[in-house]
Formats: sequence, structure tokens, C-alpha cells
Amino acid sequence: MGWPSIFHRPTPVYSLKMLFLDPRLLLVLTGIVPVLGRQAVFDSSERQWTTFPRPITRVAVIGAGPSGLQAAAQLLAENLTVRLFERSPQPGGTWHYTENTPVRELYPGTIFNKTKGTPNVLPATTYYAEGEDGISLDDRWKEHWQPSPAWYDLHTNSPSINTDLPGVKYPANAPWAISVHDVQRHVRAYASLHGINSNDGPSLPSSERVASYSTRVEKLEKCNSTATWTLTLRHMEWLPESNRIKVRFWTETFDAVVVATGLFTTPNVPTIKGIEGWSRAMEDGAFSMHHSQSYRHPERYAGKTVLLIGSSISATQIGRSIFPLAHRVFASVRESKRHDRLKEVVKFADQIEVVPEISFFEPLNENTIGIQAGRIHLCNGTTLQGIDMIILATGYRANNFHPDVNPLTQDNLHWTGHYIKDPTLAYSLVRPWSHGRYQAAGFAKVWTGKARLPNQHQMWKEYKDYDFGSPLDVFPQEALIRKYVAWLNAEALELGGQFVEPPPIEARETYAYFQNNLFKKEFVNHDNYTRFDNLPSNEWPSRVETLSW
Ligand SMILES: Cc1cc2nc3c(=O)[nH]c(=O)nc-3n(C[C@H](O)[C@H](O)[C@H](O)COP(=O)(O)OP(=O)(O)OC[C@H]3O[C@@H](n4cnc5c(N)ncnc54)[C@H](O)[C@@H]3O)c2cc1C
Ligand SMILES: *[C@@H]1O[C@H](CO)[C@@H](O)[C@H](O)[C@H]1NC(C)=O
Ligand SMILES: *[C@@H]1O[C@H](CO)[C@@H](O)[C@H](O)[C@H]1NC(C)=O
Ligand SMILES: *[C@@H]1O[C@H](CO)[C@@H](O)[C@H](O)[C@H]1NC(C)=O
Ligand SMILES: *[C@@H]1O[C@H](CO)[C@@H](O)[C@H](O)[C@H]1NC(C)=O
Ligand SMILES: *[C@@H]1O[C@H](CO)[C@@H](O)[C@H](O)[C@H]1NC(C)=O
Repeated sequence: MGWPSIFHRPTPVYSLKMLFLDPRLLLVLTGIVPVLGRQAVFDSSERQWTTFPRPITRVAVIGAGPSGLQAAAQLLAENLTVRLFERSPQPGGTWHYTENTPVRELYPGTIFNKTKGTPNVLPATTYYAEGEDGISLDDRWKEHWQPSPAWYDLHTNSPSINTDLPGVKYPANAPWAISVHDVQRHVRAYASLHGINSNDGPSLPSSERVASYSTRVEKLEKCNSTATWTLTLRHMEWLPESNRIKVRFWTETFDAVVVATGLFTTPNVPTIKGIEGWSRAMEDGAFSMHHSQSYRHPERYAGKTVLLIGSSISATQIGRSIFPLAHRVFASVRESKRHDRLKEVVKFADQIEVVPEISFFEPLNENTIGIQAGRIHLCNGTTLQGIDMIILATGYRANNFHPDVNPLTQDNLHWTGHYIKDPTLAYSLVRPWSHGRYQAAGFAKVWTGKARLPNQHQMWKEYKDYDFGSPLDVFPQEALIRKYVAWLNAEALELGGQFVEPPPIEARETYAYFQNNLFKKEFVNHDNYTRFDNLPSNEWPSRVETLSW
């Protein structure tokens, strides 16, 4: 039998570097054995494949970041009825830059009763006035949609050639590291192209609107008897004429659900002795400590002595952004295996003074203002004093929606993103730019019978056999793309539908160049991009527990 010609591009670079590209080898590795000739989509006599108890026609997508938008677009292209729910008023996810900052993160001991829970009887509508329950309208509004943590001069740490969405172009003169504002426009253009932007109405006057913005998914429940998922939804609208907020709760039911809420839902506050007292300290009407989620501009730190806590991408990039204006910038770093790996990817600017992990914060004197006089005890026995401001660049926690799934470790998820025990639920946790198009095609094809998932037993086997690591582990992630391309095209050959193209080799070459040369100058110690090329999969680094940004 023949293979689609895209597998046979006789590029020498391919054969040298992409060892796994031969689709026959990949198919053997994945256990997907191609069958000659056409056959029924779900052959129950063999039960070699996963079957669904009912046809899938209505699908919900949660999150309108680059992942959720692609999932919605591909599901729509397969003529499924799609509803896309996004808590913010606009698409973009991480890349929806806004001057709005999220409500303050929770410190240990903080009592937070900002929102009332879901009413018992739905649908329900409630109106809130300024200051009701001791909450300002502004806080109520921002608690609902949790503005993105992106800051004003954020630039990507990935080149535009593989930080893009299909069918949309960056301006020809765009630099390789793109600003958050350009990525935001790019993602919005993609949403508009597919009719799922916040200003897009229904495609026909009679049909339902696809995208519902300012709509937060509160709960996801499976009903066993009907084999459907029920989403509890909460929409918020600010009514300017009466200066009130209107909150509406209702439910909608679906055959399948894509969770595309990203990895950065809730800011992580470290549990360091004494942090609670320090978190209450204020100077000039502002808290002296805040999480990096509300960092926007460097000017606020002009002339100040700043302590960054954390060592990942946010800490190193914010450090670069503020040191030219700040008096001094310290960074407290916890040594760990994870940090050793991160050090290969990100680097503090030379001007940042790196100090050891914090042991504890000495309680502040009641009468002092701010934290200037306070003493911070470091793990090596020395103390740090004279800090004006602390930024916790200590990462985020993700919303799981399902008790069985930990998005960070991707527990119980097949490599295609499907929840193995019930593949009508799927999570989009891959890098959306380079991988999202394949994963979204997989969701749409599996649920319309144009691609098959192996049976549960085989899915668990693949779960144990494959670990594509975190998005920071570039090579294993490349192997995942190849696996997607081989699977989707083998299925298309068998069942019809469109083939997918592997990423152009230029993208990989550019990325390698970008990493090895440009970033190396300033940002990266050395991430030798090619170092995994000859490693068998059992020697790839395994899943990281915390991926902080
Ligand atoms: C500071 C920072 C810098 C980064 N830099 C890069 C980079 O340079 N290159 C790169 O490739 N990646 C980078 N990333 C990773 C970034 O998250 C991805 O690029 C990408 O945005 C992930 O897309 P996503 O759609 O999966 O998730 P997100 O972009 O996080 O989108 C998730 C969406 O889900 C919505 N949502 C969450 N919960 C709910 C709910 N309950 N109901 C309804 N909607 C909900 C959110 O509002 C959000 O819009 C960075 C991340 C951060 C935080
Ligand atoms: C979706 O529906 C349109 C209009 O009926 C049709 O032209 C198109 O072929 C359908 N697409 C798929 C993938 O079935
Ligand atoms: C906040 O809500 C919790 C749980 O509903 C309750 O136990 C607690 O007393 C409330 N705290 C305040 C300050 O209202
Ligand atoms: C639904 O089915 C799952 C898996 O079979 C089971 O674990 C769960 O308890 C059931 N839920 C209800 C409400 O019956
Ligand atoms: C502890 O760390 C600080 C900051 O890096 C350094 O200046 C100091 O010399 C260290 N002290 C010891 C005892 O190692
Ligand atoms: C990366 O590693 C390979 C193999 O160890 C080596 O040959 C190559 O020179 C390295 N490249 C860079 C840019 O460090």
C-alpha cells in the first residue's frame, strides 16, 4: 500500500534528524496497526477500538486561549454543534494583555469570601450594587474572569515561526521574539477567522451563538444514565446605566467536552514561615508583596530594592524588565533537581543578585511601614534586609475540573488528550502553537468517527509507555508531533478525511538556531536543542510536577 506523499519528502535533513519519521516504524511503536481496505468505523466484533455509547453531536470547549480556539474551530469544521465558554470578555488566554490585574492572591490564613457559591435552583439571576457584601464591583468583576498574568513588555521565548496559529500570519517584519500585543492580535485574528471572537454573532439568525464570553464554567458533571456532561455556567455583565453587576447561572448539556483552560489558573503562593504577616504590609497605599500575576509595568519599581522569589520564566523575565529602573534586584532561588533543569532553559540577567532559598520571614514590627526594616532569613544562615518590594514569581496551579485528572502531570490522560476512562472528555495541555492543530484535529476526528482511539487496555499501555514530558522538553514534544501526524494520516487513509502536514523543517531549524544562538547570548545558559536526538524515549526526562511560568 502507498503512503501519503508528505512522508516521502526526500529532504536529507529529515532522514538525518527525524529518526522516527518513517510512519511504518511509528505505527509499530504506537501499536496502531494499519488495516488494508475500508471497514466499519467502530468494529464491535473486534473491539480493537474505543466505541462511544451514543453519537457525539454537541461539544463544549472550555477556554478561548490558543488551545480552546483551535479545538472549537476544528470541531466546527467537522459540523459538530459547538459551544465555547470563556470567563474573560475577550479571547487570547495568556496573551490577552490587559491593564486589569487579578484580585489579590490568597495568602495562608487569608479569609476569602468574595463570591457566593452556585444557587441551588438554576437558572438564577442576581444583581449586585457597589460595595455589596463588602465587595467592590471592580473586585467582583475581576474575580470572575481573572485577567491574564501577561505584562506589558512580555515577549515570547519561542520564535514566531512556531508560536503561530494555522491560517494567520504575523507581519512580515515581525521580530522572532514577538511582543504580547502582537501575539494577542494574532490570536484575535484567528478567532475572527473562525467566527468565534467576542463580537461574532450566530452564523444564522436562527442558530445558537458559538462563543459565550464572560462565561465561567463552575462545574463539570457526568450523568451516567444519559451519558452526557452537564456544565454549570456563570455569566457576568457590568450594567453601566445602573452601575450594577448582573450574574446569571444556568446549565447546558453536551455529549463531549474539551477542557482548554491552560496551566495558569490560580497563582501559587509558597508556604514560607512568616509570609502571612509580610503579605499584609503596605507602603504608599500598595501592598509590598504581590504575585507575578499582577506585574504589568517596571516603573513601579523605579529606585526600589526588589526581591524576586522563584527562578522560572516569570522570575527571569520580570528581572530583566525591572533591573534597569530598580535600585537593586535580588532573586531567591530554591536549589532542586527541577531548578537544575530550568537553569538550562532560563537565566537571570547578570545584574540580578541571586541568593539562597528563604528560610523564614522574621515578624515585622507593628509600627513600621512597609517591609524595609524587616529581616529575611536565608537557608544558608545569612539575613537579607532593606527590601522594598517582593514579587512572588512562584508559578500557578491548574484547574482540574475532574478529580481524576491532574493537568500538570497529565494523570489518566492518553497522549491524544482523551481521559482514558471516559474519552468523551479531553484535555488540551500540549503547546497550542506547534501541537494544538494536531490535537484539535484528533478531538474532532475521534468524535466524528474519522479517527479511532485504541481500546482502553491499549490506551493504558500507551499511557505507561509514553511520556512526552513537559513543554520545556523540546525533543520529546517533537516526537509527540510525529506521533500525531502518523496517527491522523493513517486514520485518514483508512476512514477518509483530510491529511495533516508535519511542521515544516524550517520551523525546527529556526527554533534550534533561535535557542542555540540568539537566546544563548542573553537568556539561556545552554539548551542544546539537539541533545535528545539520539536518546531512546526511556531516557527522556520524565514529567515535571510543577511547571511554573
Ligand atoms: C507569563 C507567561 C509567558 C509565556 N510565554 C510563552 C512563550 O513565550 N511561548 C510559549 O509558547 N508559551 C508561553 N507561555 C505559555 C502560554 O500559556 C501558552 O503560550 C498558551 O497561551 C497556552 O494556551 P492555552 O489555550 O492552553 O491556555 P491559556 O492561554 O492559559 O488559555 C486558557 C483560557 O481558559 C480560560 N479559563 C480558565 N478557566 C476557565 C473557566 N473555569 N471557565 C471559562 N474559561 C476559563 C482562561 O480565562 C483563558 O482564557 C507563557 C505563559 C505565561 C503565563
Ligand atoms: C459540513 O457541512 C457543510 C454544509 O452542509 C458541507 O459542505 C461540508 O462538507 C460539511 N463538512 C464535513 C466535514 O462534513
Ligand atoms: C467564609 O465562608 C466560609 C464558608 O462558607 C465560612 O465558614 C466563613 O465563616 C466565612 N468567613 C467570613 C469572614 O464571612
Ligand atoms: C458513574 O460511573 C462512574 C464510572 O462507572 C462511577 O465511578 C460513578 O460513581 C457513577 N456515578 C454515579 C452518580 O452513579
Ligand atoms: C549566603 O548567601 C549570601 C547571598 O548569596 C552570600 O552573600 C553569603 O556569603 C552566604 N553565606 C554563607 C555562609 O555561605
Ligand atoms: C550540542 O550537542 C551536540 C552533541 O553533544 C554537539 O555536537 C553540538 O556541538 C552541541 N551544540 C551546541 C550549540 O552546543
